[in-house]
Amino acid sequence: MIVIDGPAELGGEISIQGAKNSTLPLLAAAVICKGQTVLHNCPKISDVKTAVQILEHLGCRCCWEDSDLIVDNAMTCCEIPQDLMGEMRSSIVFLGAIVSRCGQADLCFPGGCELGPRPIDLHISSLKKLGIEIEESGGCLHCRAPNGIEGNYISLSFPSVGATENVMLAAVCSKGTTIIANAAREPEIGDLAAYLNRCGGRIYGAGEGCIIIDGVKELYGCEHRVIPDRIVAVTYMASAAVTGGNITLKDIDNAHILPMLSPFEESGCEVRQLGGALNIMAPRRLNAVKHIRTMPYPGFPTDAQPVIMSMAAVGRGTSVFVENIFENRYKHAGELQRMGAKIKVEGKVAVVEGVEALSGAPVTAYDLRGGAALVVAGLAASGKTTVSDAGFIARGYEDIAGDLASLGARIRELP
Ligand code: EPZ
Repeated sequence: MIVIDGPAELGGEISIQGAKNSTLPLLAAAVICKGQTVLHNCPKISDVKTAVQILEHLGCRCCWEDSDLIVDNAMTCCEIPQDLMGEMRSSIVFLGAIVSRCGQADLCFPGGCELGPRPIDLHISSLKKLGIEIEESGGCLHCRAPNGIEGNYISLSFPSVGATENVMLAAVCSKGTTIIANAAREPEIGDLAAYLNRCGGRIYGAGEGCIIIDGVKELYGCEHRVIPDRIVAVTYMASAAVTGGNITLKDIDNAHILPMLSPFEESGCEVRQLGGALNIMAPRRLNAVKHIRTMPYPGFPTDAQPVIMSMAAVGRGTSVFVENIFENRYKHAGELQRMGAKIKVEGKVAVVEGVEALSGAPVTAYDLRGGAALVVAGLAASGKTTVSDAGFIARGYEDIAGDLASLGARIRELP
């Protein structure tokens, strides 16, 4: 549980952790690369802990040195038990890596935050096109590549991040060439390609809509620095925005923040970007963020929608959100309403009428980013807010309470 006494006014500077959604596929990729991989700037979050448990179950040895995670890929098995698969969504990207390394894999359907059905049909249809035989039975996948993995042309009907990563991991050491049309373009895709290429891979066009992968014989582990977490960055920007604050973020990649700047500018914040730092100064009272529609990168990211909704909740005027990526990503709206927010959800649309002030209340986190949005709202609310099930937040934030407290918030995490 996280307890917040609001309202706060944030000031100071904070360093941003490594990206969760980059670290997870990178750890899966370490399974393919012979020898040792060292990932610098790895966030100490529970999803990474789960990924380490999966790696150790597979036989890989992992150890931490400060924020460096060292993986030695001596694999001894090629199946992931249900309890580990059920922990998080991204466990599915181990599929491509394990088949690439062992020629087979047995794992069950992944778990993860409930944002609506989380199908993996694009993962399965794409991997089958690479010659991997996948049999589904009892919620588990039995995968075999009897003749090895063969490069092919793959066109994704949706630029799925996970499906793009799975194909990259399956194809990087395949025979022949793979082309992924309508590939995801998120920065985490580019980070995975950079690491694989440094290990000896031949992946071209990552970050564009079309990725070409020339299969190579083998990869050798190397050192790699994980990119900063753009969603943690936007969470702290929203925290400054709702509290009339003035904070500076350090160790970020400003290019990754650009698709998320418009609501801050619309609502009257002043954002200055220079090198690896960003400063945001907020007005006493925000204007509305007006119109947010979530899209695949480089559109506005769905992961930022919840924390921007907390800004809209206290903005002057009405804001309209359209959630185009996930079918059920407004669970935080009901909890914000318990704090006095005026929000009307109709399917993929949410209409938010800003109010003067929110009131602290007992609320519950139902997923990672929705939980973060409740913390942001608690900073602006008058009185005490308690966020239960804060374990969801720990999946993606190393220490959200400690970070915000260092910026002046009256916030603490109870065991
Ligand atoms: C990744 O999830 C991220 N997770 C998500 O972040 C992020 O919200 C999402 O990409 C979109 O950017 C990780 O990287 C670990 P998708 P992923 O495949 O790969 C549908 C967070 O909070 N789809 O791009 O699961 C799917 O249902 C998390 O950090 C299919 O229909 O996202 C969704 O509607 C939440 N079939 C849409 O595509 C498939 O086979 C986007 O999914 C795969 C996906």
